[in-house]
Amino acid sequence: MFGGIARRYDLANHTLSCGIDFYWRKRAANTVANWRPGKILDLATGTGDLALALQKKLPDAEVTGVDFLPEMLELAQRKGVRQTILADAMKLPFPNDSFDCVTIAFGLRNMENWRGALAEMARVLRRDGHLLVLEFSLPTISIVRTVYRFYLHRCLPMLGSFLTRRKSAYDYLGDSIEVFPGGCAMIDLIEASGFQHATLQPLSYGIVTIYTAQSL
Ligand SMILES: C[S@@+](CC[C@H](N)C(=O)[O-])C[C@H]1O[C@@H](n2cnc3c(N)ncnc32)[C@H](O)[C@@H]1O
Repeated sequence: MFGGIARRYDLANHTLSCGIDFYWRKRAANTVANWRPGKILDLATGTGDLALALQKKLPDAEVTGVDFLPEMLELAQRKGVRQTILADAMKLPFPNDSFDCVTIAFGLRNMENWRGALAEMARVLRRDGHLLVLEFSLPTISIVRTVYRFYLHRCLPMLGSFLTRRKSAYDYLGDSIEVFPGGCAMIDLIEASGFQHATLQPLSYGIVTIYTAQSL
């Protein structure tokens, strides 16, 4: 599915979010900067927007972008991501304790097994290493959630189809956001997968949330 929309992924992303996605990734990069990590793994890096924000904010850090689609990584490299590796996030080609920080933006929701993916992140993180997950969530204020759901299920598939010619990818987006755990359920999932001290920070009325934690 992502292979089919790779070329138009950035255009669709920035248009459908009205450009707010730059702000979300900037907030994520600012959070990571507070931890001063030396080696960062950006999983499901896609076209590399979070990896680029991290490279900009932390010029001395080594940022590695991983994705299992070569067409996505090619775009990330062209945009300036310095180090990329083609790999499946469910089975990473790194020894235990390889990174100070693992980030994943809009990627965990798409993995076949959320807990297994988080456990693999915990494995490659050093002890007390930092995790940051940036992911879609549903607003908690009822009226905002109703308006957002209308946009998500009615407007977004039409706009996404117009921009990428793949309506199914944008039907999937709304459906996957509905079933993905948010808030405390996500905190519980993270802490059951090899992490401690999980926190959450909703952004833009809770349309997305930044989750952080430290590996055990
Ligand atoms: C919605 S995009 C997010 C891209 C980027 N992180 C961003 O913020 O725009 C999801 C990406 O996850 C990748 N992906 C999904 N499952 C994966 C897996 N098991 N291993 C590696 N990459 C995966 C897809 O190829 C796609 O590029």
